[in-house]
Amino acid sequence: MKIVAIMGSYRKARTIDTLVDRAIEGVKSVAPNAQIEKITLVDRDIQYCRNCGVCRKDDPVKPIAHCAIQDDMQEILPTMADADAYVFGVPIFEGTVNAVTKTFLERICWTMAKAGRWPVKGCPEPRSPVKRQAIAILSSGIIVPALRVFCDDATSLIKSTIGDSLNAKLIGTLYAGGVEKVGIDRYLEQAHKLGQKLTS
Ligand SMILES: Cc1cc2nc3c(=O)[nH]c(=O)nc-3n(C[C@H](O)[C@H](O)[C@H](O)COP(=O)(O)O)c2cc1C
Repeated sequence: MKIVAIMGSYRKARTIDTLVDRAIEGVKSVAPNAQIEKITLVDRDIQYCRNCGVCRKDDPVKPIAHCAIQDDMQEILPTMADADAYVFGVPIFEGTVNAVTKTFLERICWTMAKAGRWPVKGCPEPRSPVKRQAIAILSSGIIVPALRVFCDDATSLIKSTIGDSLNAKLIGTLYAGGVEKVGIDRYLEQAHKLGQKLTS
């Protein structure tokens, strides 16, 4: 089993980084032979999508469409295509994913998808027929879990992008809410269990 963990926080060894590591430990506790690659987005050269349209026009049979931007996504896209499952760790900024994660999602949107027919002709559908699974770990500084609905547009964005482009189903999420008030200790076990769920 190959798993790619996307670490979208700007801060290392803080909330998201710690919870993603805990989820990876959960994976390893039940699947010790799993190959896990963690990608820390801020360490990579990931430029903005330029809407040049090259990927959208590329041959729909190719597993990955050509991207005209020469940056680290040239290496990351094949890694994403080769994976069976994903971990997304994302801090919530202004109610949704932070900027580096949004940039990343925009870059996989059409490189990993082709124009489909549902729900509207031309919308992205996965290039890969291989069904995958994913979990997402979100964190917020202030808004506690009971109020998640008012704070978390990130989960729906991740769910739709990975469904449309990576053929990945979001099988579980952890919303680590209000970490500025409550800290992260209470979420560690939940992250571990979520990682275990990814191997099921
Ligand atoms: C620009 C910015 C916007 C933020 N927006 C929100 C928000 O809408 N709701 C919230 O509860 N916390 C918000 N936060 C707090 C972050 O969600 C919190 O610091 C982050 O989840 C902690 O993750 P980290 O320790 O991995 O950086 C914001 C932080 C920044 C810097």
